[in-house]
Amino acid sequence: MPLFPPLNPPVSGWSGQRVWILGASSGIGAETARLLGQRGARLALSARREAALADLRSGLPPAARQAAHVLPCDIADPAAVAAAARTLFEAWDGLDLVLVAAGVYDALRPQDLDAQTLPRVRHTLDTNLLGAYHVLAAVLPEFLRRGAGRLAFVSSVAGYNGLPRALAYAPSKAALNNLCEGLHLELRPLGIGVTRICPGFVATPMTAGLDVPMPALQTPAAAARAIVRGLEGGDFEIHFPRRFTYGLKVLQWLPRRLYFRLLRWAAPR
Ligand SMILES: NC(=O)c1ccc[n+]([C@@H]2O[C@H](COP(=O)([O-])OP(=O)(O)OC[C@H]3O[C@@H](n4cnc5c(N)ncnc54)[C@H](OP(=O)(O)O)[C@@H]3O)[C@@H](O)[C@H]2O)c1
Repeated sequence: MPLFPPLNPPVSGWSGQRVWILGASSGIGAETARLLGQRGARLALSARREAALADLRSGLPPAARQAAHVLPCDIADPAAVAAAARTLFEAWDGLDLVLVAAGVYDALRPQDLDAQTLPRVRHTLDTNLLGAYHVLAAVLPEFLRRGAGRLAFVSSVAGYNGLPRALAYAPSKAALNNLCEGLHLELRPLGIGVTRICPGFVATPMTAGLDVPMPALQTPAAAARAIVRGLEGGDFEIHFPRRFTYGLKVLQWLPRRLYFRLLRWAAPR
């Protein structure tokens, strides 16, 4: 018997669960889709690259493959997200879980910032932060009507503290972390679950070209297992690997004087 009850309803089984994954064409989203497909969930797969989504579907077990929808859409386009959601609500008559894994990373530094590079900032915020609002606008009315549903957002430990080389990415994730807390406070009493997912480093196309140290780097399969386990347990925050993420949580409590000194020492110039 756990000391504290879970902050969201636990998921007792995935068979027949209707799950929409945005950002399913590669990395963490794709691997989580594979795992949920193996567990019997009905999947809707979204991202911009339709061919990659179709490849993913073709590799699913037969029952999951037949049930899966491929719904290409750009999360930065609210009309496209709303249209995909409408298609799903019609096809499935509801939705049990929306997992938003879509995201982009841009190693933006102060020296990069000028009028020409502002579109890079906008692209990161449109995808990582406004994209979440686009999904909320598309699914929340239906979730609220039914008093049920689960929202899960892949955010990042990069949202815990200010970071170098992430002047748009880290603030987008900090805002997403905050948004999830506000949503949980308001939606949980109305029957809707909210989960935020804060991975450490995961070996995906997003991190493939990074020339920074990546301590405790995980495989996408390990990330997917942690996400599915956390959703099953009803966690509010799923963070992994814990040996890395607990250290970063401690940094949140450090006086900034100490934090800045530590980061300048640890982070490459
Ligand atoms: N890898 C890490 O170390 C790490 C750590 C912490 C958090 N995260 C977060 O984890 C999430 C997944 O990243 P990943 O590491 O798995 O990287 P990834 O393999 O590059 O996956 C990113 C996914 O987002 C989709 N996407 C990007 N822009 C989109 C848009 N405008 N509309 C719809 N889909 C879009 C991509 O699909 P298309 O290109 O086909 O659209 C792809 O499916 C991101 O939110 C990332 O910030 C990653």
